[in-house]
Amino acid sequence: MQIDLTGKVALVTGSGRGIGKAIALSLAASGASIVLNDINQDSISAVSAQLSGLGTRNVALQGDVSDRAAVGRVAKSAIETFERVDILVNNAGVVVRKPMEDYSEEDWDRVIDTNLKGVFNFSQAIGRTMIPRRSGRIINIASIMGEVALPPRASYVTSKGGIIAFTKNLAAEWAKYNITVNSISPGWTNTEMTGKYFAQEEVRRFLLERVPLGRFAETSDISSLSVYLASDLSGYITGQNIFVDGGWTIQ
Ligand SMILES: NC(=O)c1ccc[n+]([C@@H]2O[C@H](COP(=O)([O-])OP(=O)(O)OC[C@H]3O[C@@H](n4cnc5c(N)ncnc54)[C@H](O)[C@@H]3O)[C@@H](O)[C@H]2O)c1
Repeated sequence: MQIDLTGKVALVTGSGRGIGKAIALSLAASGASIVLNDINQDSISAVSAQLSGLGTRNVALQGDVSDRAAVGRVAKSAIETFERVDILVNNAGVVVRKPMEDYSEEDWDRVIDTNLKGVFNFSQAIGRTMIPRRSGRIINIASIMGEVALPPRASYVTSKGGIIAFTKNLAAEWAKYNITVNSISPGWTNTEMTGKYFAQEEVRRFLLERVPLGRFAETSDISSLSVYLASDLSGYITGQNIFVDGGWTIQ
């Protein structure tokens, strides 16, 4: 079945590259207008030009998801441009790999503030505009590491587990407004975030031996689920965390 998001407006955080960019392009390919957001202006300007070339209405709004004032500005500007946001994808994220005993407070705060507080900030800012319309889709990008640990990533694992719990709570709270809230938990995916890590032959072999499907995910493996969760086809799914991990978490 062809999914048609024509007339819908989607805001995707961290959409300058990687999974967020793939989600923005996939939602656009299904007909949605796109609000791009990233901390990096150049990257979203490039994606914006690409979308415009494809004939997609879009706007690129720079802003740090962990900064409540910046998130407020982005949300206001998005609504001024498109009158509403139907689909919010909280994707922006960072990782710090460091033994727990060496973690600084700054390391901890940067990851928790970006990955978890960022989801709170945007869900509230955009959710407040969805409530009066009694309609909305919120999709949070968590991780296999919200479910299973792979040290040393104390703050990352904590943030992703937090996103999964936050998703369930918000889904229960806003179901009465017909807003669905789900999370996608990608497994190991080829992006800039993982590029250097995957480039180490030993690491690559260690990880691939543990992925039942025997390959890393491409960003399109993740973005295709976001299109489904953004569509009317998924209207009765809420509060769920869905793994797209080649089977990593089943064994
Ligand atoms: N790549 C993987 O294997 C993998 C696996 C599981 C989950 N994830 C999650 O998927 C999401 C995207 O990951 P990716 O691999 O595409 O990462 P990436 O590093 O390639 O891209 C992340 C994007 O988010 C932006 N960003 C970072 N901090 C931001 C902030 N404070 N405000 C706004 N934008 C910010 C970056 O500029 C970048 O464009 C993250 O939440 C990540 O934790 C990735």
